[in-house]
Amino acid sequence: MEKILDIISREVMGAMKANGYEEKYGKVTLSNRPDLCEYQCNGAMAAAKEYKCAPFLISDKIAESLKDNPLFALVESVKPGFLNLKLDPEYLADYLHEMELDQERLGCDKCENPKRIMIDYGGPNVAKPLHVGHLRSAIIGESVKRIGTFMGHEMIGDVHLGDWGLQMGLIITELKERKPDLVYFDENYAGEYPQEPPFTISELEEIYPAASGRSKEDEVYKERAMAATYELQHGRKGYQALLKHILNVSVSDLKRNYENLNVSFELWKGESDAQPYIPDMVQKMKDEGFAYISEGALVVDVKEETDTKEVPPCMILKSDGASLYNTTDLATIVWRMQDYDPDEIIYVVDKRQELYFTQVFRCARKTGLVKPETKLKFLGFGTMNGKDGKPFKTREGGVMRLEYLVSGINEEMYKKISDNHTVEEAEGRKTAKIVALSAIKYGDLSNQASKDYIFDIDRFTSFEGNTGPYILYTIVRIKSILKKYEAGRKIPEQARILPAHSDSEKSLMLEISKFNSMMESAFEETAPHKVCAYIYDLANAFNHFYHETKILSEQEEAIQAGYIKLLELTKRALEICIDVLGFDAPERM
Ligand code: ARG
Repeated sequence: MEKILDIISREVMGAMKANGYEEKYGKVTLSNRPDLCEYQCNGAMAAAKEYKCAPFLISDKIAESLKDNPLFALVESVKPGFLNLKLDPEYLADYLHEMELDQERLGCDKCENPKRIMIDYGGPNVAKPLHVGHLRSAIIGESVKRIGTFMGHEMIGDVHLGDWGLQMGLIITELKERKPDLVYFDENYAGEYPQEPPFTISELEEIYPAASGRSKEDEVYKERAMAATYELQHGRKGYQALLKHILNVSVSDLKRNYENLNVSFELWKGESDAQPYIPDMVQKMKDEGFAYISEGALVVDVKEETDTKEVPPCMILKSDGASLYNTTDLATIVWRMQDYDPDEIIYVVDKRQELYFTQVFRCARKTGLVKPETKLKFLGFGTMNGKDGKPFKTREGGVMRLEYLVSGINEEMYKKISDNHTVEEAEGRKTAKIVALSAIKYGDLSNQASKDYIFDIDRFTSFEGNTGPYILYTIVRIKSILKKYEAGRKIPEQARILPAHSDSEKSLMLEISKFNSMMESAFEETAPHKVCAYIYDLANAFNHFYHETKILSEQEEAIQAGYIKLLELTKRALEICIDVLGFDAPERM
């Protein structure tokens, strides 16, 4: 469906043209004075400069031309030269009726040229528990992916596991300390390695921090870990078998964690998958003269004339020939292009890595790892802070494990729900989990991704204000009205959304009508917060309407049925939106 703003703009542009002015001055925007009008056109102000006359003269003429246009209930020229517009209620009702006929998409057209977009998000590190730093990447990435899918793009999410660093060597070293007799450490062992992993996930999660702690105090231990990493990376069989175990155990645990967050990935590739592509890539960079030795290391220059800040060369290999985080990211681009040839790759990573990604992207472009038309986009997110304004920590000051954070909020939510009314324990827990996830995700996504935000459990779990639970509460409220209505009767077949009977109803209708343009810009600007802003306004408009309108006791059948249709449409819009944000609504709460 065409967007309302486009439809209105077309009319006003036509009027501009008919009066001898350039069309572009007829562009219409949403009103920033909702008390006065619904839409506005400020084009006369700009046009006045070009045509050297009073803006009022122009806006007056346009208003005159549009005064009988059936699209508008109000066309008003206001000094010094604004055009205030209100939509015809009947037209608006028809528009919503058409939306409603398309239950799947509510009239939001899929994009004309679908793209294949890979999205690199999550980025957990194997064997290290997920912590809140990984939470943002997972939440934002999942939502961006779902918005893209809704708009008709082929979105491919890749978790990009951190499975190739010193942490692997540390785990191997610590395991050797504890269980030196394992066959994996026997260099002369030639048989098959066992299928069963030599540790559980809880052991694994305990081994890593122990090893990491010890390596900070014990230089010799650290060197052993580095040597183990080197041997692993250079093909030592027993260590590679261990790596597989570490990966398997870790990945099934990660999957469970992500499932709890309603997050899933199409690809479970990791840094280690990129390693085979490194030698050829490096050779090519050398052969083509891009890479050169500087202070022992192999680097590619990536600075550009227009840089205002220094962009250091992109390091490809360290002086000892070892590869780096950069090398892996570049080689990952190699296989992504080779296997998927995406139109775009989006990276959802902490914004502190922005300079790093500038280097990687420039290097990839310069050395021809991507096509000139392949887009590389960095979606950097800010830090999740505690109430003290510092990065979120546990009460003891440590890094908070994601699992604990989530179960803490589940608990909080359960208390709230069972305080409100009596529920069966099992149902209460289930509802609490659903609502808690909305609290976490909405709390995050309602902020512009690049901004830091304060993780405030009390605020996020509140049923009032700009929160996930408030949105869910609104959906549940609509569900309950619909149930009550349907308990008495069926919706008559000829029922349809009618022209608004009140201001609050019209405001609700106007909010709904923004659906397609909102979704389009949420995708174009990779901005889930736009979806949040839309549903917050929508929920407010609905609740306002609800408080002012007797829905279930309305006597006139057609009017009542029209309300019910409007409620269904509101619910559907809210549901599509929370789905792209990555959470669900319960039946009751
Ligand atoms: N594993 C990294 C970390 O925990 C994040 C990975 C981000 N993605 C990438 N392609 N570098 O910081």
